[in-house]
Amino acid sequence: MADAAIQSAAATDLALRGDNIVKCFGAVTALDDVSLTLGKGEILGILGDNGAGKSTLVKILTGFHQQTTGTLHVHGQETLLRSVDHARSLGIECVYQDLALANSLSIYHNMFLNREIVRRGPFRLVDHKAMRERAAQCLDAIGVHVPFVDLPVERLSGGQRQAIAVARAVNSNARILLLDEPLAAMGAREAALIIDLVLRLKEKGGLSIIMIMHNYAQTLDIADRIMLMQRGRVTYEQRSANTSVTELMDIVRREYRAIREAAA
Ligand SMILES: Nc1ncnc2c1ncn2[C@@H]1O[C@H](COP(=O)(O)OP(=O)(O)OP(=O)(O)O)[C@@H](O)[C@H]1O
Ligand SMILES: [Mg+2]
Repeated sequence: MADAAIQSAAATDLALRGDNIVKCFGAVTALDDVSLTLGKGEILGILGDNGAGKSTLVKILTGFHQQTTGTLHVHGQETLLRSVDHARSLGIECVYQDLALANSLSIYHNMFLNREIVRRGPFRLVDHKAMRERAAQCLDAIGVHVPFVDLPVERLSGGQRQAIAVARAVNSNARILLLDEPLAAMGAREAALIIDLVLRLKEKGGLSIIMIMHNYAQTLDIADRIMLMQRGRVTYEQRSANTSVTELMDIVRREYRAIREAAA
């Protein structure tokens, strides 16, 4: 669990705090007494097996699901997140595991999906020129390179697509960014693109980030702190500098052996 130093450092300057969060789906307890903190400007990496409850946790933090019991504090205020729009209004943005980009639409359309810029006047026409310019500026500002912003998203690589999804979230003035498996199914080069992007966003400041990951080495490289989830619970939490791939693998291996022995 968290040591005293982590807790006291985090308590002074928190973007998010969840206490004793439980989430049940009928008979399934997806989250069983999960507590977490996210410091301002911090990157928290969440690791864990399939079905451990990682996406469910993110969906609660983004207002998509409501917790069965437990409390959330956003920027120090106790808050029940009623919906994704409510969370968004508090600066919480999420890039989901399944991305939610409209693949046949252009990069700039995707960057402004559901929040198109409209011209002043009686007809409220969509201002394509402004959206093109703003999309190009925004991508440039965070170092995402695409051939041109009119290109349909389906013509981009997986890494570039993920970068557009992240850019869209950042473009909406996110203060808390939640990324669910941003590196899933990516090769080393594409993963490096996203890792660089996240580190650049961190350097710019003002953004706190939770990333669900599956590669231990990449997580320890990018995250300030890691949290390991197993079967709906947080079983380990540590500053990245104070743990290692070997230690994390040992913890997971022990759990796996215990399950096998119990089943035998
Ligand atoms: N909408 C839902 N209805 C019922 N059960 C659900 C629902 N969403 C998740 N679950 C269950 O909750 C548990 C946790 O699922 P979750 O998707 O949070 O896991 P995860 O850690 O994100 O896994 P993965 O690594 O495979 O993405 C699983 O047992 C899953 O079947
Ligand atoms: Mg998941």
